[in-house]
Amino acid sequence: MTRLAIVGAMHEEIAALRPCLEGLRSERRAGRDFHFGRLDGHEVILVRCGIGKVAAATTAAVLLDAFDAGALLFTGVAGGLADGVRVGDIVVASALLQHDMNAEPLFPRWEVPLTGRARFDADPAWSARLAQASRTLAATDTHAQGATIHQGLVISGDRFVATRAESDQLRALLPDALAVEMEGAAVAQVCHDFGRPFGVVRTISDRADDAAHGDFQRFVRDVAAPYSRDIVRAALHLRDA
Ligand code: ADE
Repeated sequence: MTRLAIVGAMHEEIAALRPCLEGLRSERRAGRDFHFGRLDGHEVILVRCGIGKVAAATTAAVLLDAFDAGALLFTGVAGGLADGVRVGDIVVASALLQHDMNAEPLFPRWEVPLTGRARFDADPAWSARLAQASRTLAATDTHAQGATIHQGLVISGDRFVATRAESDQLRALLPDALAVEMEGAAVAQVCHDFGRPFGVVRTISDRADDAAHGDFQRFVRDVAAPYSRDIVRAALHLRDA
């Protein structure tokens, strides 16, 4: 079985997973620490990629090329966009799009030039496992009770969306977008180029409005980090089932 890569943008987003790794060994490449080990018996590589699309793309390329990762799971937080996507909910991406990609009039809006597409599909099998794992968390974890699990379009761009005006604009332009973050669509493009499967799961930390930055760090540490840990572990378990 090939190694699975587990990636988060910020230290806090992957911090809860690191103590779960056995036989930990770390290697530094391209300014990042790649942690190799076994998670519940599975060979994994855990890494913090940094914030934004370029940081995510660099990290994904190293994982897939230098370290030959067989699949990539991205986890962390996102801002809720669609009605009913609330703080504490979980979003599993079925497709991802770069909302700040615009090479008009040479190419249609959002299309990544030379790929012929704007939307990149996540791997259906990994997405199904992540959704199932998220449902289990919502049914069993006292904090996650009441969380809704959403599946659909996640959009990414190199901006933290922290005004109502900007999230209104994104909602108007991309009405089916569930959530906004800053890395997923970049990982999706790199995985597409390499022909490797990937999944993205995000806990909603804010509504991408004027209050978005509020308790952001605390939420990531106390809520999103344990959610990420538990969802990824349960999804790995489901792969064996
Ligand atoms: N990640 C979490 N919240 C976000 C937001 N409001 N905009 C972009 N990325 C985010």
